Amino acid sequence: MMYAPVGFSEAEYPRVEYQRRQQFWDPIRLALFTLTIVAIIGIAIGIVTHFVVEDDKAFCYLASFKVTNIKYKENYGMKSSREFTERSHQIERMMSRIFRRSSGGGRFIKSHVIKLSPYEEGVNIFMVLMFRYPSSDSVERIRKIVERTLYQSLKINQFPLTISKPSFRLTPIDSRKMRNLLNSRCGIRMTLSNMPLPASSSTERIVQGRETAMDGEWPWQASLQLIGAGHQCGASLISNTWLLTAAHCFRKNKDPSQWIATFGTTITPPAIKRSVGKIIVHENYYRDTNDNDIALAQLTNRVEFSNVVQRVCLPDSSMKLPPKTSVFVTGFGSIVDDGPTQNKLRQARVETIGTDVCNRTDVYDGLITPGMLCAGFMEGKVDACKGDSGGPLVYDNRDIWYIVGIVSWGQSCALPKRPGVYTRVTKYRDWIASKTGI
Ligand SMILES: *[C@@H]1O[C@H](CO)[C@@H](O)[C@H](O)[C@H]1NC(C)=O
Repeated sequence: MMYAPVGFSEAEYPRVEYQRRQQFWDPIRLALFTLTIVAIIGIAIGIVTHFVVEDDKAFCYLASFKVTNIKYKENYGMKSSREFTERSHQIERMMSRIFRRSSGGGRFIKSHVIKLSPYEEGVNIFMVLMFRYPSSDSVERIRKIVERTLYQSLKINQFPLTISKPSFRLTPIDSRKMRNLLNSRCGIRMTLSNMPLPASSSTERIVQGRETAMDGEWPWQASLQLIGAGHQCGASLISNTWLLTAAHCFRKNKDPSQWIATFGTTITPPAIKRSVGKIIVHENYYRDTNDNDIALAQLTNRVEFSNVVQRVCLPDSSMKLPPKTSVFVTGFGSIVDDGPTQNKLRQARVETIGTDVCNRTDVYDGLITPGMLCAGFMEGKVDACKGDSGGPLVYDNRDIWYIVGIVSWGQSCALPKRPGVYTRVTKYRDWIASKTGI
């Protein structure tokens, strides 16, 4: 059965888990379990304190420096290329090694590479660095500390990249400037106060059993609505004007003038509303097999990126997720089979399931094509449902989010051995590029 273009099952998985395990509880297991819970609560409190301490403020800097032992590659100019992504992650990892190890280690929040540009024999790096210091501190004092930490670390440690020390420049920037710089990169989430929103915040909240989304948590999520009939499908923003969604959303109506898209964590009121100017359904979409269930919708007017509207990254076609990778599905869909659309955006953590398993006779019995990706739990528990169709399945790689799936179909919602089936985005990376240039 296809998810009709209009949640997640109410089946609360933590409860189910515990019931299933009860019979195995002896005193030792119980003690271990209690310890684990205490540890989790401790970590949760730690994380909350870390990000909520009021006295502290984020200090942002634009860092530029030259790396002399690598050569510039053409693809560094394209931020969605694998070359740019891999090089940036390497540089970001290096920064976190430098600043997390130092005495003021807890002060480092994160770093993001903004641009790689050619210079003589090497590469020029531009990146933002974020630190947390008491709000009374001065940008100049912190700048000196940061520089000293970096220089010391470069002296003591061996890094795969050689940073030319004299080329290192650190310029203080305010949070608005930082947001503008980060807008050049996809898949980054920020809170309304311009603080980075760590991936852990979503996971922690699922553990606590609250599943409605916070503002800015899934800023690429859009609602596709038929004028007069309301929410039909989810979609994901991949540029200022393009939405990625499922082909089956347009089975009944593919006249763009009948559709609008909204953004924000509620359908009413929306944060932003746009009309749709163009709809492109995959040429080889087959409704009988659900194969190639992918489509694009172009907005008539561009949206400006902000903390509540942001684009998600498209994965390189070579990106592979092993089975049991943690991913998130979001949507306004019903939370019970045949239930109503939800006004508030919801999220669920699910795990990828290998095609070998998903295509088994006792699961989807040969219905899985190479363009599909299964995710959920073989036990049932959590799933996408009606109305989530077209919405994103996203994967977090070092606080940068990639869309790996599009909610496509499933048999009922959250049934055992009937996980959700998604369009495998990597398989259509070239198709997306051919239609949008992204
Ligand atoms: C799933 O099984 C069917 C039938 O055996 C097969 O035709 C199809 O190629 C398989 N899917 C994948 C992705 O291997």
